[in-house]
Amino acid sequence: MMANWPIFFFIFVFMFASAGSSSSLHDKRIEITEFASPGERVNLSVYFESLSEPCATFIIKNLVEIFNKDLINIVNLQLIPWANASISNINNTILCQNGPYECQLNSVEACVLNVTNNVNKQYALIYCFEFLALEGRHEKWQNCFNQLGLPEKPYLDCFHAGNGTLLGRDYVSQVSKLSPPFKFLPWVLVNDKPLEKDYENFVTHVCQAYKGPLVPPACQLI
Ligand SMILES: *[C@@H]1O[C@H](CO)[C@@H](O)[C@H](O)[C@H]1NC(C)=O
Ligand SMILES: *[C@@H]1O[C@H](CO)[C@@H](O)[C@H](O)[C@H]1NC(C)=O
Ligand SMILES: *[C@@H]1O[C@H](CO)[C@@H](O)[C@H](O)[C@H]1NC(C)=O
Ligand SMILES: *[C@@H]1O[C@H](CO)[C@@H](O)[C@H](O)[C@H]1NC(C)=O
Ligand SMILES: *[C@@H]1O[C@H](CO)[C@@H](O)[C@H](O)[C@H]1NC(C)=O
Repeated sequence: MMANWPIFFFIFVFMFASAGSSSSLHDKRIEITEFASPGERVNLSVYFESLSEPCATFIIKNLVEIFNKDLINIVNLQLIPWANASISNINNTILCQNGPYECQLNSVEACVLNVTNNVNKQYALIYCFEFLALEGRHEKWQNCFNQLGLPEKPYLDCFHAGNGTLLGRDYVSQVSKLSPPFKFLPWVLVNDKPLEKDYENFVTHVCQAYKGPLVPPACQLI
C-alpha cells in the first residue's frame, strides 16, 4: 500500500492545496467565495474512453486546471465515458474500441459517476484510474478507493451488479445523438460547441463563455 502514496499525495496537492495560492500574484483579483448559480455555469463536456492515451493525458494534464484555478466553481463538468463503444449487431454485447479491459474500466468509471454526485470525488477517482492506465497498470483500479480514502463498497456493488455496462448502453445512445458527431477523442465541448483540435485550450473557451459576475482569477488573465 505504501508504494501507492505518491499518487494519493499528488492528487490532493493538486486539488486542494492550490485554491488560494495564486492570489498573491495579482492584487486586484477577486477571490471566489460563492459558487456560480446553476444557470450561469458553463457546461464543459468531455467525451472519452478509459484506455485511450490522448484521453488519459487530457484528464491528467489539462482537465486538472479547472481544480487548480477555481474554475470548477463556474463550470458544470460532464464526463462522458464509453464515448466510442458500440453495440454488436450480432449478439447485442457492448464492444469497446480498445478491447474488453477498456469496457471494464469504462464500467467502473460509469459507476463512479453514478454513485457519487461530488465532482471532486468523481474527478479524483477517474484521475487515479487514468494515471494507472497511462502506466499500463489499469487492472489495479481497485486500489484507487483505498488511496483516496473512499469506501469502495457502493462503487463495487454498482460494478458487480453490471450497472456500469447498463449505463454504458445509455452513454452509447447519448453519444450517437451528438451533432456533429465526434471526430476523435477526447471530444471536448463548451456549452455544446465542440472545441475540435483546440480542446487543450478549454480554459480560454470556458472563460469566454462565462457571463456571470464571479469572474475567477484564471479568467481575469485572459
Ligand atoms: C459478440 O460479437 C462480437 C462481434 O460483433 C464479438 O467480437 C464478441 O466476441 C461476441 N461476444 C460474445 C459474448 O459472443
Ligand atoms: C444512476 O443510474 C440510475 C439508472 O441505473 C439512474 O436512475 C440514476 O438517476 C443515476 N444516478 C445518477 C446520480 O447519475
Ligand atoms: C443498479 O441499477 C438499478 C436500476 O437500474 C438499481 O435499482 C440498483 O439499485 C442498482 N444497483 C447498484 C448496486 O447500484
Ligand atoms: C472508434 O472505434 C472504432 C473501432 O471500434 C474505430 O475504427 C474508430 O476509428 C474509432 N473512432 C474514433 C473517432 O476514434
Ligand atoms: C447547461 O446545461 C444545462 C442542462 O444540463 C442547461 O439547462 C443549461 O442551459 C446549459 N447552459 C448553457 C449556458 O448552455
